[in-house]
Amino acid sequence: MSDVIAIDGPAGSGKSTVARALAAALDWSFLDTGAMYRAVTAEVLRRHIDPADESAVARVAQDAHITTEPRVTIDGVDVEDVIRNEPVNVAVSTVAANPVVRRAMVTRQRRWAADQPRGTVVEGRDIATVVFPDATLKVFLTASLDERARRRGDEGVDSVARRDDADTGRIVSPLRRAEDAIAIDTTHRSVQQVVEEIVTCLKTPN
Ligand code: DC
Repeated sequence: MSDVIAIDGPAGSGKSTVARALAAALDWSFLDTGAMYRAVTAEVLRRHIDPADESAVARVAQDAHITTEPRVTIDGVDVEDVIRNEPVNVAVSTVAANPVVRRAMVTRQRRWAADQPRGTVVEGRDIATVVFPDATLKVFLTASLDERARRRGDEGVDSVARRDDADTGRIVSPLRRAEDAIAIDTTHRSVQQVVEEIVTCLKTPN
């Protein structure tokens, strides 16, 4: 397996921003796995499927072709502009708790990483614990709830807190810090500081 940096953490902890900047600094590929769950959710809502209808949602996920870069698409439809909207924020935790959906996404994530010519930075909720348990480096980002809600703008503190509870409390692949992950609190740190800290860890033999 080529090098993988796994970055997990709750909504608004800075995963996407940090992972993207880190990948650019290293000239590695970047994968936002939350965008994949969001794309499936957008398609479920577009088809007027109940997000709690496990088998119907599973069929959408199993059949779908998803891209995340440069734009998020599902089955050729560009959903970049809808995946951060309120209806998707509300439904995505239910879709992401579906075990069949998770299996389908994890398979794609591993295949995608194996296809990259260089190392990869992958961010999500279960990257270090489930998707890449042998990752080169595991990072768990946190930040205060107020700061995370501020970063999420319109989503609001209640919605972010509700998603935290759903993502942490679900039975399949709940959000948790891997034992061997380094924890970084990003509340009072700039993106550049966090990136530098991760690069330093990467270069430090353990
Ligand atoms: O990182 P994000 O807020 O875009 O993620 C959207 C939702 O997707 C989040 O509420 C939990 C879920 N998710 C997940 O269950 N597993 C991942 N690897 C990534 C995201």
